[in-house]
Amino acid sequence: MVTIGGVTIKGDVVLSPMAGISDSPYRQITRRFGSSFAYTEFVSTEQLLMGNTKSLDMFRYLETERPIFFQIFGSDLETVVNASEIAASKKPDVIDLNMGCSVAKVSHHGSGAGLLRNVRLAGAMIEGIRKKTGLPVTAKIRLGWDSNSLNYLETVKVLEGSGVSAISVHGRTKAMAYTGFADWNAIGEIKSKAKVPIFGNGDVASFSEAMFKKKKYGVDLVLIGRRAIGNPWIFSETPKEKIDWVQIKGVILEHLNLMLNFYPSDDDYALVLFRKHFIRYIENTGFPDGIKRELLTITNVNQFIDKLESVKIDSKFLETSEIENESINCETFVSLA
Ligand SMILES: Cc1cc2nc3c(=O)[nH]c(=O)nc-3n(C[C@H](O)[C@H](O)[C@H](O)COP(=O)(O)O)c2cc1C
Repeated sequence: MVTIGGVTIKGDVVLSPMAGISDSPYRQITRRFGSSFAYTEFVSTEQLLMGNTKSLDMFRYLETERPIFFQIFGSDLETVVNASEIAASKKPDVIDLNMGCSVAKVSHHGSGAGLLRNVRLAGAMIEGIRKKTGLPVTAKIRLGWDSNSLNYLETVKVLEGSGVSAISVHGRTKAMAYTGFADWNAIGEIKSKAKVPIFGNGDVASFSEAMFKKKKYGVDLVLIGRRAIGNPWIFSETPKEKIDWVQIKGVILEHLNLMLNFYPSDDDYALVLFRKHFIRYIENTGFPDGIKRELLTITNVNQFIDKLESVKIDSKFLETSEIENESINCETFVSLA
């Protein structure tokens, strides 16, 4: 159990914030499967201040998701602090500052991982958000901008001095984006020196690996991102490989239903959004390729469900997934324009 500015967090593993993935429907599902709390997708403070309803909508959530962390990003102190007040009006438990997004459109303008090059500014943001909202403030960082500027210990120190309540660390540099491997020794080093709770993140592929890393590196919690897409079982002790198709199908339908309710529209909007989850749910299940291709073109929900129901997979076909993790990143499912 970890306490973050009075907010109690139970459990060991949490769904990492992911644009286009960690929306309310998937947060609801992963919380039910054991994710310790809920992180929203990152939301632009500039857009919040401009009253962009799409951005504000990303802060919709259900009470069952609590504790809920709203993640924001920005490069301008005043904008970030003022936007945090708008975020706070929706009553999150915690506000999290994104200091890790490596995408050029974000980081090269000083937001996301760009803040790693100006940690004093990040510190001022944390302090400003805290004072403005009265909420606990956390941050999600990387190890530095590149291998020549590994400033993670300094970053943690500055953020602690600004009253940060916890820090999540993705064990890569900005320059690495999603290539190579996360450096868990660096995460362990941070944990051994930090005064606030530290959450470790990067390349975790299973619940048992998360528990192993939590113990080995002493972190307070482990974040799982890419391997959790289409795999809420990763937050429980029973891996997806041991789950039969009927149960997987049940979760697929539950997830789709939550998305249809959450994104009501006259057209196929929710179904189209759901496709990226769907292809990951059926990965390594022996799902017939032809039907998969058909399902990815169907635009009518009832047709989609009927087709899905017609699929019978009786053999235990699930294998350990060999997902090419590097091919997706925080820009994969969203347009930041
Ligand atoms: C599709 C996608 C979207 C992401 N969006 C965000 C985001 O909005 N905020 C954030 O802090 N990190 C974001 N990330 C980074 C993840 O939270 C995580 O730090 C990273 O993927 C490493 O963890 P993993 O190896 O378990 O995937 C995103 C990653 C992916 C793949």
